[in-house]
Amino acid sequence: MTKTKPWFWGDIAYQIYIRSFYDSNGDGVGDLRGIIDKLDYLSNTLGVTAIWLCPFYDSPMVDFGYDVSDYESVDPLFGDLDDFKELLKQAHTSGIKVIVDLIANHTSDKHQWFIESKSSKDNPKRNWYIWHSSEDGNPPNDWLSAFGGSAWEYDSHTNQFYLHSFSKQQPDLNWNNPEVKDAIKNVMKFWLDIGVDGFRADAVYWLSKDGWFRDDPRNPHFHDKNSSGEYDALIHSHSRLGPHLYEHLQDMTAVLEDYPGSFLVVEASPIAAIPGKNQDIPEYLNLYRYVDSKLCAPFNFELIRLPWDARFYKSFIDNFQSKLHPDYLPIYTFGNHDNPRLASRIGEEAIRVAAMLLLTLPGLPFIYYGEEIGMKDVQIPRGEQKDPSRFGGNGRDAARTPLQWNKSNNAGFSSQTPWLPVDKDYEKYNIETQLAKPDSLLNLYRALTMLRRQSDALRHGNYLSLEINHSSVYGFIRQTKAEKIAIILNFSSKKHSVESKGSKGKIIFSTYLDKENLLYKDLTELRPNEGIVINLS
Ligand code: GLC
Repeated sequence: MTKTKPWFWGDIAYQIYIRSFYDSNGDGVGDLRGIIDKLDYLSNTLGVTAIWLCPFYDSPMVDFGYDVSDYESVDPLFGDLDDFKELLKQAHTSGIKVIVDLIANHTSDKHQWFIESKSSKDNPKRNWYIWHSSEDGNPPNDWLSAFGGSAWEYDSHTNQFYLHSFSKQQPDLNWNNPEVKDAIKNVMKFWLDIGVDGFRADAVYWLSKDGWFRDDPRNPHFHDKNSSGEYDALIHSHSRLGPHLYEHLQDMTAVLEDYPGSFLVVEASPIAAIPGKNQDIPEYLNLYRYVDSKLCAPFNFELIRLPWDARFYKSFIDNFQSKLHPDYLPIYTFGNHDNPRLASRIGEEAIRVAAMLLLTLPGLPFIYYGEEIGMKDVQIPRGEQKDPSRFGGNGRDAARTPLQWNKSNNAGFSSQTPWLPVDKDYEKYNIETQLAKPDSLLNLYRALTMLRRQSDALRHGNYLSLEINHSSVYGFIRQTKAEKIAIILNFSSKKHSVESKGSKGKIIFSTYLDKENLLYKDLTELRPNEGIVINLS
């Protein structure tokens, strides 16, 4: 590995939605002590080497922690600062790096900064948020909140509107004000001084807006008037992605320079989804170019969006990899707390191949909690839903339900009724049951993390696409000077034979967990939904 490569290259990350991971104190909500209790599972059983913790700071929980009322605290629901320090210490002892969420675009409306800002037009913090007057009583422009409705909320006390790109309880900070930038940089230093290894930066595209507050243009590709996504009726090119975006991110990552080994993972997805925008070069690639790529890299969310079709995967990944400088860290993931679960999206029969793909691609893979046991979306009756957004029509609760640990009450997540219902199938899909079954999905994940951890080619090798003349089969090579590995994935539920085209090797791994050291030459038959790894060294 060259010295210029980011620290996180070669790690395997796991996203913990804390509320639903493990409840140590019987209040129905997961907490920091719960994570400490399960560190052995993460490091020794599952084999991950980094965790991303969703927000645990003081919050009124309107957006379940993405509305922060004090950045330098731990919400009592999750524990206290000592619990966090203990978690950090034990995680590091177990070889696990810890990334925490950094919500820099907005605070809670209960944050002291906003309370002051709102108090009067001449309060020193007035300009920490984005306030505007309007002449006709209507919002200052057409910008929309990602959670629905106008992005402007009228405040009768000062007779102005404030901007909120998400819920109205999440007012946007004014990043044009250097004091705001300094305040967020201090928040970063606070957590870095405690010892965190980095951040996952939330909703960064909104950090900079159009300086003239021009209306967002209408989306010419939006025709569905009945769609729940009124948000898609506009192209959000003025309400986000403003001229100072990369400058803000550069200033944020500059903080990391004083903390060797720290890293910023950026949530930068939505732009690639702008209908009509050239999809060939996603906007997030600019992040690598304009922000120090040794300190920062964006998620790409294509694997969350693409239909399960080998041709789409080959086309996207070949194209994406070809655009990356060898030192740019790709960050692939199949899910997170904002999207439907993998097993529900692509079907249970396909998830073993997806697991192999994720853990054999270059860069830093993120596993969303529960993916390793095939957790599915849990349909929650409308009246019981908690998510304030209406993403996907039904909100995001379905993918945020308690992790299923075992067959006992509440799937072993909590001794009390959990904050969201547990999947009714938990007796089949749970960690304990799957650990006991040698060919279970969980044991596949374990074998794959082990394979990745032991292979230099899988962690650091080049990516070379394979030309396989079959539309349902996608394959690639990972290669270092000393090691050459091929990965071949059958995306379909039919068997297919692939030709080795003169290369010879040994099949060292199958998603069926039953093949080892079989000869690979001439014609090899892939079973339905089978992925194999071949050692060609
Ligand atoms: C990000 C988070 C999401 C949150 C939003 C507002 O997209 O992933 O959960 O609701 O930002 O902070």
